Parts: sequence; structure tokens; C-alpha cells
Amino acid sequence: MQRVLNFLKRRILQYRFLLIGVAVLVLLLPQISPTQETAPDIIYFIGRFHPLIIHFPVVLVLLTLVLEIIRRWRLWPVSQTTLAFLLGIGWISSVIAMGFGFMLYYTGEYVGDAMQQHLWGGSLLTAALSLSLYFFLSFLRSGSHVSQGLYLGALILANLMVIFTSHQGGSLTHGSEYLTEYLPDFTQTTDEWQPKPVEEMLVYEDMIVPFLDQKCMSCHNPNKAKGGLVMTSYEGLLKGGKSELPTLMPGSVDDSELYRRVMLPVEDEDHMPPEGKTPLNEEEITLLRWWIEKGAEPQLKVQQATAEPHMKPLVDNYLTQLQARQRARFLQRQALEQLIQTVSTSQPYVLQMDAQEETLTLSMTFPPTSFKDEDLLSVQHLFPRISKASFIGSNITDDALYHIGQMPALRELYLQQTAIDGSGLVHLSGLPHLQLLDLSKTQINDGQLLHVLHLPGLEELYLHETSVSEEIVAALQQNRPDLNIHLERGRLF
Ligand code: HEC
Repeated sequence: MQRVLNFLKRRILQYRFLLIGVAVLVLLLPQISPTQETAPDIIYFIGRFHPLIIHFPVVLVLLTLVLEIIRRWRLWPVSQTTLAFLLGIGWISSVIAMGFGFMLYYTGEYVGDAMQQHLWGGSLLTAALSLSLYFFLSFLRSGSHVSQGLYLGALILANLMVIFTSHQGGSLTHGSEYLTEYLPDFTQTTDEWQPKPVEEMLVYEDMIVPFLDQKCMSCHNPNKAKGGLVMTSYEGLLKGGKSELPTLMPGSVDDSELYRRVMLPVEDEDHMPPEGKTPLNEEEITLLRWWIEKGAEPQLKVQQATAEPHMKPLVDNYLTQLQARQRARFLQRQALEQLIQTVSTSQPYVLQMDAQEETLTLSMTFPPTSFKDEDLLSVQHLFPRISKASFIGSNITDDALYHIGQMPALRELYLQQTAIDGSGLVHLSGLPHLQLLDLSKTQINDGQLLHVLHLPGLEELYLHETSVSEEIVAALQQNRPDLNIHLERGRLF
């Protein structure tokens, strides 16, 4: 063995140009296109050995790393000679396998993205292995820590490339679903709606949160924390808001600001929710009161409430209503899922379901492809369900706004970097819920911008990088003091 190592030291070091040369050469291979003609039979013949011999370098590269780890952690004595030997034949077999693989590619029988990625993977793998061997040999000669580090780095890279490339190769020969075909489908939903068993239900999570969610959280969430109060988590409730009065005082409704606010007369300025919003009903207030008096524990079980005779009828009634609502939501969601499936997947847009709202989000694919006004018509049957639409970077024009004007549930509309000049904004005046409009980086001009005055529910307007004048922004603000006009960049999605 020692003699082999000495031989390697003497010989291969003289050939270090060979190792570097191979590394460079294999990286150039993917630049070559497959032949347009029929390749000679011999190329096919040799190429088809690639899937067979590829197992040698794969095993050797993995094994080298494993032995290297064993050696470093001193789990078992492994000599450097062994490593050099493995790395050496690993490298030779990898170069041969790469050559054979390239022949297969050259025949033009395999094309497409997976093929390109596999070829690149193989090239990088062989190049990394060449460098790994190169640095290992220089480390043997000089004992330099830098060389040793580089050797290890290249070896790890080679191993990562083995994993990537063999997976790509597997997909080429067996189809891309080969590995995951028999993976259990965790996303599958059952057709039947199953109510949660009462024994598992918690007062806070299953009875209080649903009505707070409906009647309070739109103003008290992490993005919009009115009065500094976030109600979307139990911790948020305990933390309280700006007044620094306890929002929730376990055991005492009188000291719980949350309870005090909902009990104030509706006309009172401090009443929650503010005037115009649906207040809590009696059942909800009774539940809230009972829960706070019992210590406002998040783990309190619904069964503890039904155990009290005066609470039982109320809780039963409440649960029946709640379950009816949940079932309706479930069915609606299922219907939406089926609707989404009616739209083909190979479209220049993405449709997603909004988990809470039971509505749809329409956005452009990334990287952007061309999406034109007519493309909107292919989702016309979904218009009533769309609550957010983003056309960022697409080719839509003002004519598309006519169709967008037929999305009654639309709340957010992103039109950044489109060809819109604003002449179509009139069509949006029939959208009662449109809260957010982003016109950044469009050709919108002063005159057309005034159309936004006719958007009844608009709260946020983005005008980043437009040529709109300061005067018009000021005028707009004066007319609609409640409107937040942003000249900085808004959200992308
Ligand atoms: C339309 C928006 C809106 C809704 C809906 C809303 N709130 Fe508020 N809430 C506010 C605003 C604005 C303030 C801050 C002004 C104030 O203190 O009255 C506030 C403040 C509060 C505070 C005081 C926080 C503190 O300690 O300073 C409590 C408690 C509160 N809300 C509870 C509720 C509850 C409970 C609901 C649901 C039943 C609710 N809010 C629904 C807008 C809303």
C-alpha cells in the first residue's frame, strides 16, 4: 500500500495539470449541443453503459466521505493511503462514467430541463472530484491545512452533487414521480365533514376565538393592531393594549378591559367593536363572562361548561350553530377546490385559496410569462370568488380593468409595472370592498388618478415611482383624508 501511495505521490503530482485540465474540460461539456443527425452506433453502444457503470463512482465518492469522517472522529483507523486509493479510482470511474453519459446525451435522445440539470450535475461532480483529488495530493505532499480544507470542501461538494445528480438521473430513466409515487398523500382531504368531538373541545379555542375572529380580529391583528392590541393569540390578549389596563383579568370581568368595552352602551365612544360593526350577541357575552370568571384558562374544556346546568342549554345551542357554520365553510371550501381544478394548470397565472377567507387569490406565475387581457376571461367563472389579484409585471392594459371591475369580492389589487395608464380605473368604482390599490411603476397620470376618488372603500393607495405630481397627491389627500397614500414601495406577492 505504501508503495502505491508513493507511486501516486510521485506520478500524479506530475499530472496535476491533468486533474485541473479535466475539471475545466468537464465544465465545458454542457455547452456542447447534441447532434442533429443520427449518432454512430458505437456512440449508442458505449453510451448505454452509463447507467451501469455510474454506480462505481457514486459508491466510491460516498464511501470516501464516510471513511474520512470515520478517520477524523477516530472511530476506526483509516489510513490516508486507503483514502487516496478510493479517491483515485473514484475519480477515474467518474471520468469514464461522465464520458459515457456525455455520449448518451450527444445522441439527442434525452432532452429537456431534467437532462440539462443532470448533465450539469455530472460535470460539477466530476470537476469537484478532480479538485478534491488534486488538493488531497498536495496536502499529502505539503501537509498544508489550506489544501486539506479545500480537499474536504470539494469532497463534500462532490457528495452533494452525487445526491442531486442521481436523483435527476433517476427521474430521467424512471420519470419524475418515481421516488414520490408511493409516498402517502398527506394533503388528501376527506369528502365528509367531521365535527370535532365535544370531549376534545376547548372553551377558548373552539368557542371564544371564533367570535373574536369574526368581530374583533380585523382591527386587532399583528398587521393592524388598533389601540396596540393584538387579539390573534392568547399571549396578545394577556399583553393588552396602549391603555395598559389589563385586557383580560383572569377571574374578574370588572377588571377586564375587554369585557368592559363590549358591555358599554353601543353609543359610547369606547364601545367595542366600534359603531357600525356587529356587536357581540348575548350568548357570546355570556360565554366570555363565564370563561373570564373561571380564570380565563386557555385549556378549560367545553365539557366543564356543559357540566353546569345553567350553561348547558346555551353551550349546546352555540355549538350547534358553530358546527353548522363550520360545515357550510367546509362545503364551500370543497366547492372552491373543485372550481380551481377546472382551470388547467399550465396557465400563466396561479390561483390559491385563502385559508381564512374562503376566497381566491389570483397572481402571476414566477418567473413572469405573458399574461394578456384575454387571459383573464379563462377564469371568468371564478370572478365572484377572487379577493386578491396581482398582475405585477404582466401585459395587461386598461381594458382588463373592465373585467376586474366584475370581481365584487376584490379587496386588494396589485398593478405594479403594467401597461396601465389609469383610463380604465372608472370600471373599479363598482367594487365596494376594494381597500388596496397599487399603481406603482405605471404610466398613471394626474388626470386619470382622480378616478380613485370614486372607489368607495379604498384605504391604501400606492404610487411609488410614478409621475403623479405632488399637487394632485395633496388634493387627493384633502378630499379623502382617511386614504393612506404611499409613495414608497408596497408589498409584492
Ligand atoms: C373597526 C376596528 C375595530 C374593531 C372591529 C374592534 N376594535 Fe377594539 N379598538 C379599535 C380602536 C381604533 C381602538 C383604539 C381606540 C380606543 O381605545 O378606543 C381599540 C381598542 C380596543 C381596546 C383597548 C386596548 C387598550 O388597552 O388600549 C380593547 C380592549 C378592544 N379594542 C377590544 C375589542 C374587542 C373585544 C373587539 C371585538 C368585539 C374589538 N375591539 C373590535 C378598533 C376596533
